[in-house]
Amino acid sequence: MGKRFNITSRLNVHGGLLVIQKKTTISIIKCDVGSLAGHHVVPEPIFSVARMHLKKAQNEGLINSQYVFNAGDDLELLMVHQKGENNSEIHNLAWNIFKEATNKAKSLKLYGAGQDLLKTAFSGNIKGMGPGVAEMEIEERDSEPIVVFAADKTEPGAFNFPMFKIFADPNNTAGLVIDPSMIGGFKFEVLDVIENKKVVLKCPEEMYELIALIGTPERYVVAHVRRARDNLVCGSTSTTRLSLIAGKYVGKDDPVSIVRAQHGLPALGEILAPYMHTFFVEGWMRGSHWGPIMPVGLKNSCCTAFDGPPRIVALGFQLCNGKIASDDNGEPLICDLFEDPAFDLARKEAIEYAAVFRRMGEFEPARLGSNSMEYTTLPKVLEKLKNRFVKTDV
Ligand code: 13P
Ligand code: 13P
Ligand code: MG
Ligand code: MG
Repeated sequence: MGKRFNITSRLNVHGGLLVIQKKTTISIIKCDVGSLAGHHVVPEPIFSVARMHLKKAQNEGLINSQYVFNAGDDLELLMVHQKGENNSEIHNLAWNIFKEATNKAKSLKLYGAGQDLLKTAFSGNIKGMGPGVAEMEIEERDSEPIVVFAADKTEPGAFNFPMFKIFADPNNTAGLVIDPSMIGGFKFEVLDVIENKKVVLKCPEEMYELIALIGTPERYVVAHVRRARDNLVCGSTSTTRLSLIAGKYVGKDDPVSIVRAQHGLPALGEILAPYMHTFFVEGWMRGSHWGPIMPVGLKNSCCTAFDGPPRIVALGFQLCNGKIASDDNGEPLICDLFEDPAFDLARKEAIEYAAVFRRMGEFEPARLGSNSMEYTTLPKVLEKLKNRFVKTDV
């Protein structure tokens, strides 16, 4: 594809000089390409493939910064660049990395090799092909703190509750009450992933309507959040539903999101506060159970007990002139935000609630309701039994 004119550039006057200030894009693209000992964790040889190619793309100038990490069995590519959202070169880079990592996974006979690569031919945009994508193109503020979240064994609707708390709940985010620049509230773009439509709802005015929708996380997903007074984008999540693409259960769409912090937006601590307690999300074993989400540092980013509990990691960094601020060796400065005793209580709660739900086995509400199961195995059971059902009068 030819070079596109970056219509997002901005003209600024600095000391009499007219300089073009390009916007910066944060892309986080993830894929389960195969994992070690079941759906557990991404092993080192897979990271090596991703690091090697992202480093090369950085040296060649396609991207400005990169960081490779994992959420359980999901390989996460964090890229900062100036090509905009939905850019075919960036998506192609991720697609090729996932394909090569899948080959590596196959050679090691890793479990679920190529699990999330649902289509074979790349068509310019990785969305809808299996991998999860969250992107945000922004004009860097004087200081631009960013948090990236990545979760395993759950789905994009898992961000509904924390996004609501961060941007709409004054008991979570003191800034909604205290900081005059936030008092105008935030707008939530909500996607209906079943019917592929979206609606924008403004808080605080339409808070009850918002909750009415996003309280059903398997169908209504917060896709973007913007500050109401100036439309500044400040939250973005991945919104794919693999089962809807594949027409059958192929693993959960373990989600990612990007949130901007501070200075007229929620403070870092307000963005992390929803994770001081666990809450229930859909996913866990075979994507078919409610499970308590557990915030963890990268060293515990792996799923074990009943393939869980569902886990989430949070990485913090600063943007600096189109890059991730880095140390003197060029290594990006990344904070592993949940690697902190402040989240021990949530982890303890998650373990306790996980045990309570497991005692219930395959009985609701431990297992997902039939609405969610209809995309998985329930239709097969009903099909098998269909001739054995007989009419009854009662
Ligand atoms: P800012 O308004 O600069 O984001 O600071 C808020 C703060 O102090 C958070 O605790
Ligand atoms: P993933 O979606 O993380 O691959 O998990 C699939 C699964 O079935 C876990 O039990
Ligand atoms: Mg997997
Ligand atoms: Mg996963």
